[in-house]
Amino acid sequence: MASLKICWISDTHLDVPSELARKTFYEKIYQSQADAIFLTGDIADGLTLTHRLKELLSYCNKNIYFVLGNHDYFHREVNSVCEEVRALCQQHIKLVWMNEVDHVLLDDNVALLGVDGWADGRYGDYENSFLSLLDSRYIADYVVALQQGRDSLLKKMQWYADQDGKLLENKLNSVTDCEKIIVLTHVPPFPQSSWHHNQPSDDNALPYFASKATGDVLRNFALQHPNIQLQVYCGHSHCYQRYQATQNLIVETADAKTGEPAISDVIFLKRGFYV
Ligand SMILES: [Fe+2]
Repeated sequence: MASLKICWISDTHLDVPSELARKTFYEKIYQSQADAIFLTGDIADGLTLTHRLKELLSYCNKNIYFVLGNHDYFHREVNSVCEEVRALCQQHIKLVWMNEVDHVLLDDNVALLGVDGWADGRYGDYENSFLSLLDSRYIADYVVALQQGRDSLLKKMQWYADQDGKLLENKLNSVTDCEKIIVLTHVPPFPQSSWHHNQPSDDNALPYFASKATGDVLRNFALQHPNIQLQVYCGHSHCYQRYQATQNLIVETADAKTGEPAISDVIFLKRGFYV
């Protein structure tokens, strides 16, 4: 069987680059002759997301398996973005929002699944962190929560993160007969996979740049199923990192520069083995 060639792309922030820069980027993806595309979030912002997904699809005409990142909800309410993206995916079957499907079989023994994932304030030191992420200024649900105080914001962050953690657990448990599972998510699931400017995220940043909700689910599943290889692709912290959490769980975080969209990696999948 021929190998499957996949372009992994993350944190493109396609609301920022000019039309010419976007088209140059789409042309590079097209030239890669990939069979499919993985997008691990922060595709654009809430106002441009569906336009950019359609634009990318029109240039590449390949299956695009994606999760959303926090920026994809900017300037909107979370539910309104979800409804718009669901409607878009119903119109274009090659656009697959991984939150909305249990899994996709890439090979007889290789399943692809994903959840957006949200930072949950459980790593690092939320209480004493002096950072405040743009999320609490631009995601309507977070703006409202923060008006009630930082405790309310934390509860809201954890509510979204835990929803996706539970969703991830259910999806993983539906493919226990596979040899390999590829997971797409936006927020790094472990502190060790969250780096920025070539430094590990510190206690100020970790509450906003990692998700214990998805991390715990992934680690527990990996330990309970030592014969299943888990490969996670994520983004959000804009710094490449490869972290082996257990003998069968590897997390790769994409490098990214806002305004300079790029292909993070080209993945070859050959009968269940990466080369
Ligand atoms: Fe992000």
